[in-house]
Formats: sequence, structure tokens, C-alpha cells
Amino acid sequence: MFQEPLLKFVAFALLCTSISNALDNGLARTPPMGWLTWERFHCNQNCKKNPKTCISENLMMDMADRMAADGYRDAGYEYVNLDDCWSAKERDAEGRLQGDLERFPSGMKALADYIHSRGLKFGIYGDYGTKTCSGFPGSWGHFELDAQTFADWGVDMLKLDSCSSNITTYSKGYPEMTRALNATGRPILFNCKWPNELRHYGMKINYTLIAEYCNTWRAYMDIHETWSSVLSIIDYFILSQDAMIPVSRPGSFNDPDMLVVGDNGLTVNQSQAHFAMWSILAAPLLMANDLRNISTQSREILLNKEVIAVNQDPLGAMGKLVLRIGSAVDVWVKPLSEKQQSAIVFLNRLPSPTTVSVSLQQLAVKCFDKCFLRDIIQHTNIGYRETGKPYDYWIPGTGALMFHVQP
Ligand SMILES: *[C@@H]1O[C@H](CO)[C@@H](O)[C@H](O)[C@H]1NC(C)=O
Ligand SMILES: *[C@@H]1O[C@H](CO)[C@@H](O)[C@H](O)[C@H]1NC(C)=O
Ligand SMILES: *[C@@H]1O[C@H](CO)[C@@H](O)[C@H](O)[C@H]1NC(C)=O
Ligand SMILES: *[C@@H]1O[C@H](CO)[C@@H](O)[C@H](O)[C@H]1NC(C)=O
Repeated sequence: MFQEPLLKFVAFALLCTSISNALDNGLARTPPMGWLTWERFHCNQNCKKNPKTCISENLMMDMADRMAADGYRDAGYEYVNLDDCWSAKERDAEGRLQGDLERFPSGMKALADYIHSRGLKFGIYGDYGTKTCSGFPGSWGHFELDAQTFADWGVDMLKLDSCSSNITTYSKGYPEMTRALNATGRPILFNCKWPNELRHYGMKINYTLIAEYCNTWRAYMDIHETWSSVLSIIDYFILSQDAMIPVSRPGSFNDPDMLVVGDNGLTVNQSQAHFAMWSILAAPLLMANDLRNISTQSREILLNKEVIAVNQDPLGAMGKLVLRIGSAVDVWVKPLSEKQQSAIVFLNRLPSPTTVSVSLQQLAVKCFDKCFLRDIIQHTNIGYRETGKPYDYWIPGTGALMFHVQP
């Protein structure tokens, strides 16, 4: 079932591009890259006990400093994003959202200014429903006011969660927020939680519709710092790939959630595989880690320019699972914008290293009679491979190989 020719797949993706509209705010021409508080810092509000790790302006400023000074900004990581638990429990006297007064004493506008002064962008979190997932004020009934408040502060990206909300209103309500953001005149990248909630209730998901109103959308459950969590998200993308691939393009991208590279839950090889997979899926690359004490190995993975280039390829195509070998190895292919170039990931899901024998023809990768392969995780040239001939590929346990392919 995964054998159909790549060319047919590309033609289909192009056809879909011409018949449906993406959100027209000029943003997310390639998958957004940045940093987000949630998976590392969650809803830590106790700044007395945890001054360095509570959700606060200090945490955000520390991360902006590290992103600017340690090479992340130069590698393309741009957005510094708050998740839940930044706001006060109550709106202000004019009904506007406000930052927690103790943890954000300088105010949200000052924080945005600080982040902008580092050459970075500021992302914030809101909720479509009446309350956020951690019980802070939601935007239901306040879409226009909240959009304007965010714009006034200088927000560049909004993640709109879906707790305490009525899913039957989404196809009207999410577009209302899109219009409210547009009406502010400030380009604000819009990340929706729309499909994840529908999935949760077993409802059919129209990605074409969602892509008309959201730049990126969370498709599945929250990621955790475990290999099984990474695999469960990949499995959901496999199930949905025929619906997701046509809507992955400049302006709109499927979001499998944050990167947990740099936390302590994954081995180095698992981290490489996670990063390779998110890159081949054309996923947003939003790190959820502590950039102040990240290991050298994790930093190298996150700053791998060759892998990032695959993620940021201007075509914006989401990779496709083209071949499953036994129960361990999945092979993914992503077409790139340069003619006859592509990227390949061999993902070994299981703990034992394994060798597979595969021809490029089996993967529907064609560059006339031979292709030139470069290993972009190890940064070594593999050399030419005849397309019709099987070659052996050794893949570490719970790890990946990633190749750039050209004629
Ligand atoms: C608002 O939408 C219009 C039409 O789709 C678009 O041309 C414009 O750039 C948008 N503005 C912002 C700020 O998103
Ligand atoms: C999905 O949404 C698109 C865009 O609004 C629409 O044209 C299409 O008919 C919808 N598909 C289904 C199956 O409802
Ligand atoms: C990790 O992968 C490398 C090759 O990239 C391999 O040499 C090493 O044995 C692997 N480590 C483990 C623990 O599997
Ligand atoms: C970074 O520091 C935090 C506490 O300050 C700690 O919880 C975490 O384990 C550290 N991470 C690494 C990778 O050392």
C-alpha cells in the first residue's frame, strides 16, 4: 500500500495546493521554529521555591538570551513562546487579559520588547473555551478583545488551546478568532488545537478546512519525554498521512507537538531519531527544554543545519511513510524543492540494531539510474547508489538514519 510512485504523490500535493486556500497572513512560509515553556516547565507558579524554573518573565528572558547567544537564533529558532499559566487568575478592570502581576511584574509588552530586542519573536498561549487547561481565563466571548490585547503587546504567535470548550462550535469559532487576529493588522502566527479535540471525540477531521484558518494545528496528544510517546505521535501521523500530506505547504503545517530533545527522557540516538522525524514531517520545531544547562550532544542535534534544511525546505511537503520492513523499520521520504532531490529517514522503532536491504526504487526515489546519498546526521557522504539495486543499511536500536538524496 505504500508503493505508489512518488511523482504521483507530488502531483497530487500540487493539485491540492491549487484548489484550497491557506491562511493568508504571510507567516509560516516554512515550519515555525522556536521554544515553548510547556513540556519542560509545565505550570510551575512557585517562584519563591523555584525562582529559576517558574513560569515568569525571568525564565522567558533567560531563554531569549540563550537563543540569541548560543546559536539557536542563527540556526532559525525564532519564536520564544509562553504556554499556559502566564496570566493572572482574573481579567483586569477593562476585561482584558493580564499577566500574573508577581511573575510578570514588568508587564507583557515589556517582555515582548525584550524578546524583540534580541532579534526574536514572542509567542503567547490562550484558550478557545471559557478556561485554559490549567484554569486561567479563556477567550470564549472575548475573541476580539483578546486578539487586540495580544497585538497591542506585540505578540507574534498565538497557540489557542481547546479546554473547556464546545467542539460543535469550532468550525464557526476558530475562524472567528482568525478574523479577529487579522483585524488587528498585526501578523500573528495562529496555532490551533482544533483537530486534536475532534480526534478525541472520534469525529472526522477536515484538514482542508482547518488549513484555511490556522497556520499550524496540533493533531494529537501532548508529547512526553519518552520514546513511546514519540512513537505514538508518529503512529498517529502514519494513520492520517493521506489527509495530512495535501495540506502541508507554505502557510500551513501539521503540528505533532514540541521537541523534547535536551530533556532527560530520550537517549542520544532517540533524540536524533525524534529530530529527524519532526524534520521530515515538516513539523514546527519548538524546543521544550532548558537551554541554560543543555548537554553538548543535545545542542548539536538541535543545531544540525543539514537536518534543519530538510525541515525548512521551501516546498513545505510533509514526508510520507513509503515502506515498512517487518515490525521494526519504517522508511520515510520527503520531496524537496530542488528537482529530483529528497530526504529519507530509516526509523528503527525497536531496541535492537538491525540491517535492512532496500533499493531506492522500492522507495520510489528516482534520480535516473543512480542517486548520491549523504548521511546528514553523521555529516558523511555515502556516495552513489544505483536506483534498482538493493543496498544494506544498518540502523541503531531506537534510532534513525537520515539521508539527503540528489542525482
Ligand atoms: C488579513 O487578511 C487579508 C486577506 O486574506 C490579507 O491580505 C492580510 O495580509 C491579512 N492581514 C493580517 C495582518 O493577517
Ligand atoms: C472540507 O472543507 C473544505 C473547505 O472548506 C470543503 O470545500 C470540503 O467540502 C470539506 N469536506 C468535507 C468532506 O466536508
Ligand atoms: C547509537 O548510534 C550509533 C551510530 O549512530 C551507534 O554506534 C551506537 O551503538 C548507538 N548507541 C546505542 C546505545 O544503541
Ligand atoms: C537543568 O536544570 C534543572 C534544574 O535547574 C534540572 O531539573 C534539569 O535536570 C537540568 N537538565 C539537565 C539536562 O541537566
